[in-house]
Order: sequence, then structure tokens, then C-alpha cells
Amino acid sequence: QLNERESMFLVSEFAKEYFHDLLKNSQQGKAIGLSYFKERGFRDDIIEKFDLGYCKDEWDNFTKAALKKGYDLKYLAATGLSIVKDNKQFDRFKGRVLFPIHSMSGRILGFGGRILTNDKKAAKYLNSPESDIYHKSKILYGIYQAKKAIAKEDNCFLVEGYTDVISFHQSGIENVVASSGTALTSDQIRLIRRLTQNITVLFDGDAAGLRASIRGIDLILEQGMNVKVVSFPEGEDPDSFAKSHSDADLKAYLQENAQDFINFKVSILLKDAQNDPVKKAGLIRDIVTSISKIPDNIQREVYVQECARIMEISERVLFSELAQMLKKDS
Ligand code: CTP
Ligand code: MN
Ligand code: MN
Ligand code: MN
Ligand code: MN
Repeated sequence: QLNERESMFLVSEFAKEYFHDLLKNSQQGKAIGLSYFKERGFRDDIIEKFDLGYCKDEWDNFTKAALKKGYDLKYLAATGLSIVKDNKQFDRFKGRVLFPIHSMSGRILGFGGRILTNDKKAAKYLNSPESDIYHKSKILYGIYQAKKAIAKEDNCFLVEGYTDVISFHQSGIENVVASSGTALTSDQIRLIRRLTQNITVLFDGDAAGLRASIRGIDLILEQGMNVKVVSFPEGEDPDSFAKSHSDADLKAYLQENAQDFINFKVSILLKDAQNDPVKKAGLIRDIVTSISKIPDNIQREVYVQECARIMEISERVLFSELAQMLKKDS
């Protein structure tokens, strides 16, 4: 079992190098892959830092190269790098630019591959399949490149996508990881907790991003961590926002717009609850539900006080509501 995993890591490391080399040194890699990244504004140093790559748009260019180097088809198949079907083999990521996914310690766990067109019929991203080394729900893209900065800043920005992470680095913000589009999991949050107690959620400015932020908040509170949220304008994600603003403006935006979770919920929900007592009560309950997830008594009390102040309601009522919720949970 241990040796199998080791063999999967080795072939993944080879793949990372192979795809990265193709991107920079082959004619097709430069003309298609590298120019795609350049068009998106990625600098050379960033392409290096994230080991970005390209897989030729040919049937089995990579698989053949790996076999020739002596890698076993068994591990090419186990990692999903090669798809084996009816005694034929082909490259899973053919014709895509590649984002290698590193573990906390820098081993290659898998890849995200993006198509180069905006063809709505094909899946925009194709990821490595679940395997003994790639567990999507336990992976945070960028954790290897971010871990030092997360500890130093004592905060972690959490974004949705590969390119959000990369753009932030390019803008000088290195304490950032991506959940890679999955619903955030407690395993992912615990990975961050090894480095800091503080998460700032920066999801895309669309309905899906908003829903994901709301869900993420309770999960983060459950882990006993502090959570803030920054919203982006409709239709923008952290990558597009970073690309259209200077480094200084991006940093200022993040600082000025970071809200604690109570103010975030109030700001998105209060608009239509303002003059409607029933809706306002619903919002208060919603906030108290989040507060009930916090394991620490004292922290809960501090948030109850804040909620009482913002919502102009007595602490006594909130505490009794909270007590009922806690009783239901246990
Ligand atoms: N994702 C995925 N499979 C898809 C779509 C998305 O795995 N078919 C994941 C990717 O990790 C992606 C993240 O979800 O980075 C966020 O999705 P989205 O916002 O749609 O993509 P962006 O990261 O913004 O990618 P791009 O800017 O290249 O369009
Ligand atoms: Mn390199
Ligand atoms: Mn999105
Ligand atoms: Mn996005
Ligand atoms: Mn994007």
C-alpha cells in the first residue's frame, strides 16, 4: 500500500515536470498553453512558482513518454493521468493547461486541467479522479505556496478557484488557498487551522458564491475559528478583481470590506427585512444559529452582545433563543 502510493507520487512528479517543460519549451506548448496564460496576464515568475503546464492535444503523447521513462502503466492509470480502455491508452488532460496540486509538503497530489476555449459544452475544468493520493475533499489548492505567509500574516484568504490563488500571488498577496469549487469541508478547514485561527472568505460575486460563503461560515465557526467575509461586485471573482485593480487598491479593498459574519449576514439579508418584523426575526434566528456553532462559551457571549447591538434587540432574548438551539443540538 505504502509503495503503491509512493509510485503514484513519483509518476505525478514526473508528469508535473513533463507538462511544465512542454509549456515552456515545445512549439505547441508555447503557441497554445503559454500564450493562454500570457493572455490572462500571468507573469513568468508566477508560472514557475505554480509549476503550470500543458498537455499536448494528441492521443497519448504524455503516456508514451512516461512509459518510455519506465513508469508503470498501473500507476499512470491509478493516478488518472492515463485513461486505459480496451487495451488503448490516452492522456486524460490532452489539450488542456494544467495546474498541479501540491500537498502541504510539496508533493504532487493531482492536477486541475482547464480547456482553452470558452466552449460551454465541455467541462471548463477537469480534475484528477479520487485515488489513494488525491482526495478532493481534503485538498486546498495553493497551501504549499501559501503556508509561510498564512502563518506570518496569521490569516488565510479562502477563494474558490485556481486562478484566484495565482492572481493574488501576482498581486503580492500570498496567504491564499482555494477550495477548488467544491463545497468547503471541515477537513479543508482543519488544514488551515494548523497554520492560523483566522479565515477570510472571498467567494465569487454570484449567487453560487454567496451560498457557498454562507455555508462556509458555519463550518468555520464549528472549528472554533474566526471568520470574516469580503464580497465582490456582481460578476467579479478575486482573479478578475485583482487584474483590474492595482496591488494597493486590492489590499485596501480587502481591508475596508472585511466584515465579521454577523455584519455580513445583516448586510445581505437586512435589506428586505428592515421593515418586516417576521423577516427580521428570521434573520436574527439565522445569526443565532451561526453563533450556536461556536464551541467556546465566551466567544459565543461576545457575538451575542454584538448581535444584540446591531439588531437592536435585548441580549436576554438572544441568550434564551441560543439556549434552546444548543439544547436541540445536544
Ligand atoms: N471547478 C471544477 N470543475 C468545473 C468548474 C469549476 O473543478 N467544471 C473548480 C475549479 O477549481 C475552479 C473553481 O471550481 O477554479 C471555481 O470555478 P469558477 O469560478 O467557475 O472558475 P474560475 O476559477 O473562475 O476559472 P476561470 O477564471 O478560469 O474561468
Ligand atoms: Mn520550472
Ligand atoms: Mn464561480
Ligand atoms: Mn471564479
Ligand atoms: Mn475566474
